[in-house]
Amino acid sequence: MADNGTSSGKGQFDAAVRENRLIGERFYKLKLEFFGEGAEAFEGFRPGQFAQVDISGTALPPADSIPDELRDSAGRDVLLRRPFSFTDVTSDRGRTWAELLYCVVGPSTLRMTTLQAGDSLSVIGPLGNGFWVPEGKKTALLVAGGMGSPPVQCLAKMLAKDYPEITPTAFAGAKRAGDLPFEGRMDEVSREIGFVLKEFGRHGIESIVATDDGSAGFKGLVTDCMVQWLTGNSAPRKEMIIYACGPEAMLAKAAAIARERGIDCQVSMERRMACGTGICQSCAVECRVEGSSETVYKLCCKDGPVFDAREVVFSDRE
Ligand SMILES: Cc1cc2nc3c(=O)[nH]c(=O)nc-3n(C[C@H](O)[C@H](O)[C@H](O)COP(=O)(O)OP(=O)(O)OC[C@H]3O[C@@H](n4cnc5c(N)ncnc54)[C@H](O)[C@@H]3O)c2cc1C
Ligand code: FES
Repeated sequence: MADNGTSSGKGQFDAAVRENRLIGERFYKLKLEFFGEGAEAFEGFRPGQFAQVDISGTALPPADSIPDELRDSAGRDVLLRRPFSFTDVTSDRGRTWAELLYCVVGPSTLRMTTLQAGDSLSVIGPLGNGFWVPEGKKTALLVAGGMGSPPVQCLAKMLAKDYPEITPTAFAGAKRAGDLPFEGRMDEVSREIGFVLKEFGRHGIESIVATDDGSAGFKGLVTDCMVQWLTGNSAPRKEMIIYACGPEAMLAKAAAIARERGIDCQVSMERRMACGTGICQSCAVECRVEGSSETVYKLCCKDGPVFDAREVVFSDRE
């Protein structure tokens, strides 16, 4: 079954907060529920798509619980919506639940920590183009760097459910164990491939963890970990695909590894987004024009955020 990664029917909807729970040191899981037309629209959410969330009416936490490094920026007005992916979307009898995993990095995400069950949020989506599944793939390498894990988790579930012919393996990397946005004791995960992360294990997908400092799993970059895995795997490269989301330097490396080995690769790009719908032009991604040395600027929010890696001119010019 091929899949073009898009969904129809976006709009602005109210969502009810059902849960907002701290995970690890500074990650939160926010569970939202959509009703009526919102439930219908988000039922069609594709892994890698995103939503623009309005945090402007949400209160700051008490001053003594604001981390020192965010004290200066905490008071800034949050006028613009913020883009977020979902880790999971489920629907049942006209109701849709979406799970958002966020890291506290600035004024909006700080405000989000005060959301409680019963609060209401305005959400625009589903937006952009998600990951797609080309014909003939049998092995998928899912690569998540730091906060790149939400769309990769969502994709893992879809592959396990809808593509039994594909065997996925997940690679999750971060600077150190505390920066891995997963549940469970990250400092106790094994160096070996295995069902170490329950976010993937629950779908029958094996996972490998890598940290730059070796505080969990493989010591080194997640892309080096993937190269080691590829070296020991003889599956035909044409039947493989790499799906990656994370910092741009990691995406550039994943793209280079894929190119050198003739493996298809899709990358989910990140840009600061103002409108999220193709109007403000603030989210440009430089892209190659096939068969020419020219490049053009595409919009991360509208043409992406997922791109074929061959298309993207990465900012560090790998
Ligand atoms: C398509 C897409 C999906 C995303 N999904 C998630 C998700 O599932 N979970 C999650 O925690 N975050 C996600 N993000 C990032 C999230 O939008 C930002 O962390 C959020 O906007 C921060 O808002 P803030 O007001 O708290 O902090 P800000 O003050 O707005 O930002 C804090 C710091 O993060 C940097 N930053 C913020 N947004 C971006 C960006 N888009 N690209 C590069 N640097 C940025 C800023 O430069 C600044 O240094 C996603 C971004 C995009 C574009
Ligand atoms: S965020 Fe406005 S055009 Fe992409």
